[in-house]
Amino acid sequence: MRKPPEINSKYFYDDRGSMLFERICELPEYYPTRTERSLLERIAGRVTDSIRAEELVELGPGGSTKNRLLLDKMAEAGRLRRYVPLDTNETVLRRMAEHLADRYSGLHVHGLVGDFTQILECVPRGNRRLITFLGGTIGNSRPREAVSFLSRIAALMGPDDGFLLGMDLIKDTARLEAAYNDSAGVTAAFNQNILHVMNRRVGADFEPDHFRHRAFYNSKDHWIEMRLVSTRIQTVRLPAIRLELSFRTGDEILTEISAKYDRDRAASMLARAGLRLIEWYADPENLFALSLARR
Ligand code: AVJ
Repeated sequence: MRKPPEINSKYFYDDRGSMLFERICELPEYYPTRTERSLLERIAGRVTDSIRAEELVELGPGGSTKNRLLLDKMAEAGRLRRYVPLDTNETVLRRMAEHLADRYSGLHVHGLVGDFTQILECVPRGNRRLITFLGGTIGNSRPREAVSFLSRIAALMGPDDGFLLGMDLIKDTARLEAAYNDSAGVTAAFNQNILHVMNRRVGADFEPDHFRHRAFYNSKDHWIEMRLVSTRIQTVRLPAIRLELSFRTGDEILTEISAKYDRDRAASMLARAGLRLIEWYADPENLFALSLARR
C-alpha cells in the first residue's frame, strides 16, 4: 500500500472545526479532555508550588478553561504575575484575555496570535515560568518532529522554569478507537470539515461528502490515524499549489495522527529534547498523563 497524501492537522481548526472539537471534548467516548481536567484539578497546586510559578505560558489554549486551575493556585499563593497564551484564534484569545484580566487583579496578559510552532520564539523572557502544552496535541507530531519542537521549548527555558505536557496513554485498542469513532458522528464531521478548510484556504474543490471518516489504532507506531476514504473515482484540484489528486474508490488521505505514550516513551522523548522528566501524574485508570519536566 502506497503512503497516502497528508493534510496537516492544524487545518482542522477553523471556526467550525474548533466548534466541532469542543463538541468532541464532551462526547462520552472521548475521555482525554475530562481526564486531563480532573488530573489537573488534583495536581495544579503541587505543580505551581514546586516551581513557585509566577507566570503561565500556554501553547494553544483555544477555548479551554483548564488554565484557570493553574492560575487560581498561582493567585492563591500570591505569585501570579503574567499569563502568555499562544493561539491562532485572535477572537478567542482577546475574549479570554479580558475575562482573565477581570478574574485576577493585577494580571498581565501577553497574548501572542499565531501558529505556536511559528511564534514560539516570540515568547517573552521571564522567570519561574510554567509552560503548558495540554490536551495531548503533542501527539499530532511524529516522534522526530515532536522532539525538535520540544527542543525549541527547552531552548526557551531557564533553570527555574517548568514544562507541563499532557499526553494520551497507550491502552486497549477498543477504548482508543472508540474515542475517534464516536456514535454521534461528531468526529466524522470534524474530519470531513478539513476538506472545507482546504477548499477555502487553497481554493481546492473537494466534495467532503465524497469521503468517509476512518480512524484506527496503528499499534506498531503507537498512534491513532484518522483518514478520509474516497467513496468514488474522483479528481480534486488544488490550484494554489498546482496539484491535482486522483482518487480511486477506497484511496485515502491521512488527516491526523494522534500518538499515545507511556512513561518510558515520554521520558525518552523529553530526554532527546534536553528535558528531564521530574514528575509523572496519571489518573487511576491510566488513561491520560501529565508530565512535569525541567531543563
Ligand atoms: C486536540 C490533537 C489532542 O488527537 O485526540 C480529537 C484532536 N482528533 N478527535 C486528539 C482530535 C479527533 C485531538 N488533539
